[in-house]
Amino acid sequence: MGGGRILIVDDDVSCAGELRGALARRGYVVGVVASGADALAWLHEHPAELVLAHARMAPMSGVELCAELHVQRPGLPTIVVTGDSSLEGAVAAIRAGVFDYIAKPIDLVALTIAIERAIGQVTLRRELARVREQAAVKRPIASLVGTSAGIRGVVELIHKVADSDATVLIVGESGTGKELVARALHDSAGRRALPFAAINCGAVPAHLLESELFGHVKGAFTDAQRTRPGLIAGASGGTVFLDEIGEMSLEMQVKLLRVLQERRVRPVGSDEEVPFAARVIAATNRDLESAVAAHRFREDLYYRINVVQIRVPPLRARASDILLLAQHFIDKIAARSGKPAAALGAEAARLLLEYTWPGNVRELENCIERAMALCSGDEIEIAHLPDRIKQLHETHPPVTGASPLELLSLAELEHRHVRRVLEAVGGNKTMAATILGIDRRSLYRRLAELDPASPQS
Ligand SMILES: Nc1ncnc2c1ncn2[C@@H]1O[C@H](COP(=O)(O)OP(=O)(O)OP(=O)(O)O)[C@@H](O)[C@H]1O
Ligand SMILES: [Mg+2]
Repeated sequence: MGGGRILIVDDDVSCAGELRGALARRGYVVGVVASGADALAWLHEHPAELVLAHARMAPMSGVELCAELHVQRPGLPTIVVTGDSSLEGAVAAIRAGVFDYIAKPIDLVALTIAIERAIGQVTLRRELARVREQAAVKRPIASLVGTSAGIRGVVELIHKVADSDATVLIVGESGTGKELVARALHDSAGRRALPFAAINCGAVPAHLLESELFGHVKGAFTDAQRTRPGLIAGASGGTVFLDEIGEMSLEMQVKLLRVLQERRVRPVGSDEEVPFAARVIAATNRDLESAVAAHRFREDLYYRINVVQIRVPPLRARASDILLLAQHFIDKIAARSGKPAAALGAEAARLLLEYTWPGNVRELENCIERAMALCSGDEIEIAHLPDRIKQLHETHPPVTGASPLELLSLAELEHRHVRRVLEAVGGNKTMAATILGIDRRSLYRRLAELDPASPQS
């Protein structure tokens, strides 16, 4: 029995000493302090699994201490020991979030059982959270294609925050998939059956944005012929997606900040505020921190929306996703157009991997769409790619991975090249074989031949 660190808080030194001895004999590690303030300070310095507080202490009573701990450290169970077993005392203790309430004189068996139950429950809760988190990490999101570390990090974060109400700020270059991430966040949460209301703050004229977001009453302005609830209240308990929030005027930023803080909206032309339950997600491709520094974005609003930040990495930083995404778009377009899916030719694939994709996933999607339209055979070739990508073929002839001055044997050159391609596709052998223009079996043979002692490129 026992095991675990317990803090006893009691201003009656002899009582506390007796209890400490009894609990220590049962295998607990016990700390003792004489006041609520000391307890809070002690807990800053030491780990503990449980706090055992005497109800009657001054100036901070045991129940007040437990209430404070319930807020500060919701995972730390508390037990109150009391001399009077009145009902009000018990009710106050329950309100304060205490786990158990023990009357004096203390029955040590009953106390030990209470302690074990409290610690056991907390351990169980922690274990469950850990399992849940691990399960979440392993579960990919179907709409988000990619196996790179960058995408896996995004997926992990989506699962972690999906069911919280915290505001999420999604940042990343244009075309990286921010809107897709926002939808995935909505779809992964308990809110998936509720509305997902998106608005592009940069595309709506400033004077209309307020009524679009907060609603208006009839007659609030010339065109307001009917009362409308606005996006935020209209989304009920769903998600409101504020896209391109970096484009919002400073005046609207002030109003939005208030709305997010109070969790109430005031429709244009109304004196009444309406509470709302929707979760707010914002996205931007701007660097909001420098916008804050330049006074183009309010610092207080920035902190308010940046509670959780999801950074979607640029495509060039997750090269191992490029061919997966290309294949995904080929299949998607083929399914949509009824055309058979063309295969990605080895040379074309090589150029897709070498290009730096300033327009990110959207540019890749457009590029594949164009190639599918131009391609009449069953393979996408260099000729079907846009000029800017084709040019790479002229400026960078097939890369060998070795400097031209290095005098290598053909075998070594081949080994290096195989390794380099494998690295570029994140170890996907089917893709590597496609790019190398050989079948999987030949690739396996070459890999088997690779001498582990040979110099690394
Ligand atoms: N990981 C991905 N898997 C599948 N499709 C993706 C992925 N990332 C992006 N896309 C697709 O790429 C296109 C661009 O994505 P999206 O509109 O979400 O980007 P964005 O970051 O919001 O861009 P912008 O900053 O220009 O608004 C969309 O068609 C989207 O479906
Ligand atoms: Mg977008």
